[in-house]
Amino acid sequence: MTAKQKSISGVSFVGSGSAIPAQIITNDQLALRVDTNDDWISTRTGIKQRRVLGPDESFSDLCFQASISALEMAKWGPESLDLVLLATSTPNDLFGSAPKIQAKLGAKNAVAFDLTAACSGFLFALVTAAQFLRNGSMKRVLVLGADQLSSWVDWDDRKSCVLFGDAAGALLMESSEGNSDDLLGFKLRSDGSRGDCLNLFEKRHFQTLVNTNMYQQGGFSPIQMNGQEVYKFAVREVPLILQDLLKSHQIDPESLDWLLLHQANKRILDAVADRLRISHSKVLSNLANYGNTSAATIPLMLDEAVRHGKIVQGDLIASSGFGAGLSWGAALFRWHGPS
Ligand code: ACO
Repeated sequence: MTAKQKSISGVSFVGSGSAIPAQIITNDQLALRVDTNDDWISTRTGIKQRRVLGPDESFSDLCFQASISALEMAKWGPESLDLVLLATSTPNDLFGSAPKIQAKLGAKNAVAFDLTAACSGFLFALVTAAQFLRNGSMKRVLVLGADQLSSWVDWDDRKSCVLFGDAAGALLMESSEGNSDDLLGFKLRSDGSRGDCLNLFEKRHFQTLVNTNMYQQGGFSPIQMNGQEVYKFAVREVPLILQDLLKSHQIDPESLDWLLLHQANKRILDAVADRLRISHSKVLSNLANYGNTSAATIPLMLDEAVRHGKIVQGDLIASSGFGAGLSWGAALFRWHGPS
């Protein structure tokens, strides 16, 4: 990437894609492993099943498939991309998975890098990508949200393992012509002082290097979560940040076409909609089928809604991502779709 001539432009959302693993794990199947049941999981979370990557597929395959379907929707060639930005907490290479996806796509003109912000990652990446488009240094970007949390869940911890699944979602954004800007606004927040309630920490395992010198062997412990604290955080902060964003743009919640929230728990989605006085019919949800796929939930849901004709050109969407960090954010945008 080289810096092009600076000009201020807007952002247009032109294509979406997604990919899910073939392997389905139902609540009843999980009950064969841990002391749980379909009724408990469905009632408390809204989740009925999740997808888990098996031996015949990989994390990069999902990212690649999601990217290809978005590029086909927009009818863009991969070489037209300036950026491949991958939001993930579970890359298959800690040095970054985005360059591998860039290479596989043949997006030879794009710079590619990863961004980590757990379940807020996709929203943070969308806003990051928008800055390159707005300042005129890039024209076309691919933003991916993808996670393979199945690798980092403790499958014997019934309090957390029932929640998560794997998926990838993709969004294509373009700098818009003239004065139009489909990204009406955004707000991003972090509070590391409250981060202990949800983490995927390093393992503190030291080995002898030479003589008495030690080194820390790399590795991570499974996800640890205080579900009640995460729940309280989400139902407090998400309505507040959305209200704040809508108010600063003088938008009445009733005038939204869709509320597109990180799919963590059906009760969280309902509570946020109730606080904002938004009809539940405007709350997009596919939790029942996929569970919480972390950075993938928002683009996966967006893509499903676009392909099923729910979201149509011009729709006004308020979106919020939230999760570990703690981190949370909101964006207000209009869907444009392919020209
Ligand atoms: N099946 C059956 N019983 C269970 C299960 C299970 N899977 N899990 C917990 N229980 C039991 C508990 O042991 C407890 O039993 P006890 O009363 O005998 O001790 C009882 O159910 C109630 O447990 P709670 O933890 O109080 O259940 P709660 O109503 O809080 O629901 C849940 C738990 C669903 C996890 C909820 O707290 C929640 O959704 N929190 C948000 C979590 C979340 O969304 N995390 C992802 C954030 S996004 C990201 O960044 C990854």
